[in-house]
Amino acid sequence: MMIFENESPRQFHLQNDEISYVLHVLKNGHLGHLYFGTRLNHREDFSHFQQEAERAGTSYVYEGDMNFSLDLARLEYPVYGSTDYREPALQIEQLNGSRISDFKYASHRIYAGKPELEGLPATYVDEEEEARTLEITLHDRVMEADLILTYTIFKNYNAITRSSKVVNHGREDLNLSRVLSASIDMPDSDYEMIQLSGSWSRERHVKSRRIESGVQSIGSTRGTSSSQQNPFYALKRPNTTEDVGDVIGMSLVYSGNFLGQVEVDHYDVARASIGLQPFDFNWKLEPGEAFQSPEAVIVFSNQGMNGMSQIYHNLYHQRLVRGKWRDRERPILINNWEATYFDFDEDKIVSIASQAKELGVELFVLDDGWFGKRDDDTTSLGDWFYDERKLPGGISRLAEKVTEAGLDFGLWFEPEMVSKQSELFEKHPDWAIQVEGRPMSHGRNQYILDFSRKEVVDYIYELMHDVLSNAPVTYVKWDMNRYMTEISSAALPSDRQKELPHRYILGVYDLYERLIRDFPEILFESCASGGARFDPGMLYYAPQTWTSDDTDAVERLKIQYGTSMVYPLSTIGAHVSEVPNHQVKRITSLKTRGEVAFFGTFGYELDVTNMSEAEKEETKNQIDFYKQHRELIQKGDFYRLVNPFEGTGNDTAWMVVSDNRDKALVGHYRVLARPNDGFHRLYVKGLDPDKKYHVRQLASHEDYNESHSGSTHFGDELMFAGLNLGAGYSGTQAGGIKESGDFSSTLWLIEEA
Ligand code: DGJ
Repeated sequence: MMIFENESPRQFHLQNDEISYVLHVLKNGHLGHLYFGTRLNHREDFSHFQQEAERAGTSYVYEGDMNFSLDLARLEYPVYGSTDYREPALQIEQLNGSRISDFKYASHRIYAGKPELEGLPATYVDEEEEARTLEITLHDRVMEADLILTYTIFKNYNAITRSSKVVNHGREDLNLSRVLSASIDMPDSDYEMIQLSGSWSRERHVKSRRIESGVQSIGSTRGTSSSQQNPFYALKRPNTTEDVGDVIGMSLVYSGNFLGQVEVDHYDVARASIGLQPFDFNWKLEPGEAFQSPEAVIVFSNQGMNGMSQIYHNLYHQRLVRGKWRDRERPILINNWEATYFDFDEDKIVSIASQAKELGVELFVLDDGWFGKRDDDTTSLGDWFYDERKLPGGISRLAEKVTEAGLDFGLWFEPEMVSKQSELFEKHPDWAIQVEGRPMSHGRNQYILDFSRKEVVDYIYELMHDVLSNAPVTYVKWDMNRYMTEISSAALPSDRQKELPHRYILGVYDLYERLIRDFPEILFESCASGGARFDPGMLYYAPQTWTSDDTDAVERLKIQYGTSMVYPLSTIGAHVSEVPNHQVKRITSLKTRGEVAFFGTFGYELDVTNMSEAEKEETKNQIDFYKQHRELIQKGDFYRLVNPFEGTGNDTAWMVVSDNRDKALVGHYRVLARPNDGFHRLYVKGLDPDKKYHVRQLASHEDYNESHSGSTHFGDELMFAGLNLGAGYSGTQAGGIKESGDFSSTLWLIEEA
């Protein structure tokens, strides 16, 4: 891995074994983009990647020069105001009303390692040799401001990280109305844009569209990254498949309002950018202050969508998730939410925990309803004191009882919220986000605390710190159940009101950071009405995320498939819940529910005390099975095999392969049974073609160890001739129904022979 610099003309080439990223200083001192893609040999000059010639109908920078226009150049971090007519990455309003900036190259530094971003989540390195960083400082003479662009290239991940920082060295306030994290002008627009879109209970569905002249964008204005759009998109060539072809991924390490945008101009140049949402954003930068953007992680793969996903999986698992839990196997948990909702007491919880222990569960999580007087969702958020009616001995006695029963104890909080019926709201009504004189809208009967205020964060920190220090808590589920409205802070002056959503997220990060520092052993799982804040920013603090409130096995196929575009299995919370499913009322077998949830961080969300003996036995086997293969699942390479968003969507398949390719687990799922079906094959991936593998279809849901004896095959055969999907439904004439039924699943275990 190297960062080369050519002095004249000034160019920078970030290169590792597989990718190259080349940029240069343009004639006017701005930065231009030259190349991002498969690794190139370094050469002394890449100027020929950029053509210049006179074109009618545009404007030029220099008198007497009809060639140099920013409109014709491919730019690296476009700023507003001169000859570029596309949407910029940066716009700054000055006191005289000017919105023009003119940042010119001033200096640069290249160094080993990767810097932290103060107060913001970011990927990191353990050793300096893992990455190199280029920091370019540009200066605007009129504003007396610096723009610092930071680029890092990793040795072992085909990713470039980018962020930007504006420093006000002048004597006047600056108003930053747009500060994106990254922007790249690609030479053509022959791409499809892939995005992860949805809503509550159907998060991160994969959508694709051909990019066209004009602007196409995704984003959030909800105060959080949202379940509607994920802060990620990919641009793939039309012929790129899961395994072959070029794709660029743009992912933002941020949990608040964002924008991801592609603008195709009149010369078919595609400007791909990502960063903070400019809509309703403004940041007043006083003299001497600096503003740091979040980090964008840009990935290039010439091995298709799955190649891109694996780069994100490895980077985010190994160098975004932090702390003790990064490398540890994650516990199998049981959560009482769908088992009891708000209606529980100490005895009920202890009986669930004791029964769960017998089945092999490792962690009990007490969900919503343990504090204040919370019997429904109308009260008590903000009052993080245990409810004596339900838990007379408090959280500490309950946690001790659960611990005595042999399980670790986890606890739910929703730190950012307040209910009107609460001691906190009575004491500090102005701590809720609201506009004076206007009605306050609610979501789920609750209001959002103004986390842009340090005293609010301090108060919640003290309460949480107190609960966590007085009980043996090893896991925290951090929930967040509504979007922002009437955005205004009682503590901010009028000219800083548009800073609130970003300041709020900085407050959330600050609280997480303090708790992680104080309780490094605790495993945090983030949650937001299910998966409304499943983003890389959260993963820096909470190694796993509750993927969706929708636990129906069929719905989960699409949700988990989409989530896997960016996020590794170790981050994807996946639980077995009861049937009829609480979200869609569908009835699926325990086997299918388990075999979908196996591909994530596994757990249960039902009342184990109500299970039949047969269900208990099956659950025990599922847990044994997951424990046996947990390392493979949580640390292996994930491959998507059959896409539920294509064709009829009736089939889904995926698999996970160990690092040294000696073991794999394959899951195939069929929504509706197909009568009199043909004999289909499933082409697996990622195996060693020359290794001999023993393949067992895990036949019995009663006992995963009691499987078909299996057969032996070379890896090449399994990948290129495929696995036999089984005889399927054969009708009653042929001796009874063999294997059939809607919502079915099949697992194969592939082990080196
Ligand atoms: C929403 C979460 O997604 C659920 O898992 C549960 O924790 C509820 N909130 C509790 O209110």
